Amino acid sequence: MDKIVIDGGRRLEGEICIAGAKNAALPAFAATILCPGKFLLTNVPNLKDVDTIIALLKEMGAVINKEGPNAVSVDTERLAHCEVSYDLVRTMRASCLVLGPLLARMGKSRISLPGGCAIGERPINLHLKGFQGMGANITLEEGYVNADAPDGLVGHKIYLDLVTVTGTENLMMAATGAKGTTILENAAREPEVVFLADMLNKMGADVHGAGTDKITINGGKPLKAVEMEIIPDRVETGTFMAAAAITAGQLKLVGCNPAHLEAVTMKLAEIGCKITEGSDWLEITGPARPKPVEIETNPYPSFPTDMQAQVMAVLSVADGTSVITESVFENRYMHVAEMRRMGANILLKGRNAFVHGVGSLSGAQVMATDLRASASLIVAGLAAKGKTHVRRVYHLDRGYERIEEKLRMVGANIERKPDRKRD
Ligand code: EPZ
Repeated sequence: MDKIVIDGGRRLEGEICIAGAKNAALPAFAATILCPGKFLLTNVPNLKDVDTIIALLKEMGAVINKEGPNAVSVDTERLAHCEVSYDLVRTMRASCLVLGPLLARMGKSRISLPGGCAIGERPINLHLKGFQGMGANITLEEGYVNADAPDGLVGHKIYLDLVTVTGTENLMMAATGAKGTTILENAAREPEVVFLADMLNKMGADVHGAGTDKITINGGKPLKAVEMEIIPDRVETGTFMAAAAITAGQLKLVGCNPAHLEAVTMKLAEIGCKITEGSDWLEITGPARPKPVEIETNPYPSFPTDMQAQVMAVLSVADGTSVITESVFENRYMHVAEMRRMGANILLKGRNAFVHGVGSLSGAQVMATDLRASASLIVAGLAAKGKTHVRRVYHLDRGYERIEEKLRMVGANIERKPDRKRD
């Protein structure tokens, strides 16, 4: 197991290339199940979660090859079976994204029900309810979901009780294989949903309204394998913006899409950052000291829950008290206890976090608990006086490609080391 050690207090300055988005790559790999053929996915980030979905598709019989540093071919001509094991789902909840495509292509699927995770219970009841609406039989046994539609899926009007990103993606993919029209009401509007709809339409599907809360899919169109470039990762972009903000640094982030993170940009500007942007780049200069703000996380285009921990790190050294409300997940404050070890002064009351800014943080041994929490501890360590040891960085490797290398390139004193201490 590795740890990352940061000797904080250095101002970051320079240019960072943004990788493809984890949360777009995962549904793109799942969509290759929808029809036989050889797909080529480019701008694919090198991440543990991508390795996991590749392993999952290979287990099903897909032939997958690396065609370049960030290019992957996926041949789904012959998919042998449609079971997804507990071990794979336990490793990555987003494995549930294969449910919809398997139902559309093979009329059945058996997948382990995802357990909870650090940030919340995260059920998939809305996914399953939608599949049932399309005529699938859903049974649960021994922790597995058995889904089958012997007569094929039928288009249906589905109202999603909650805005769910992978729920919207799963049902959109299933609906491409259903007879007739499916309407998803209260659909997620994330850029990754729009990206997936673009990919499905390029494959020959007929999807309208992605990016709004009502998506219409006219199913049954013949689909073909395509080449698709993964969109940039808006959360990686936001994470490096937070790094600039907390170190009073100046970073140029290239290969990003500023239009995908306006809520984050607006909030960081309120915090005192100066931000200029082009179509595929942005430049951010952090303030001498962050200003306190109020933040509430909500589905896109509101402030994203995936940026809550990283911006909390910035606010932990702000000149005043900030209030953060986490409205998406019920337990996404696991990073708070670790930040307190670094001297942060944060009070939690239910979904609210009152962040009383301190003059500076101090380096400490801290433990990563989930992907974005680990990123927030890196951000905090960049500004802390002394050394911060972030342990269990396997969480980080799920969603960030070579983050320590990218930060070292812009002046951080950061390195990855084997973690010999027992937890
Ligand atoms: C996606 O997760 C992202 N993951 C998450 O990113 C992100 O935090 C989340 O959307 C919210 O933006 C991927 O895209 C692979 P949800 P997802 O379904 O789809 C409840 C990261 O760090 N819900 O939108 O699993 C759920 O419990 C990850 O990259 C149900 O109750 O999230 C949550 O409270 C973390 N029943 C809320 O809805 C359901 O059937 C939103 O969850 C589905 C969801």
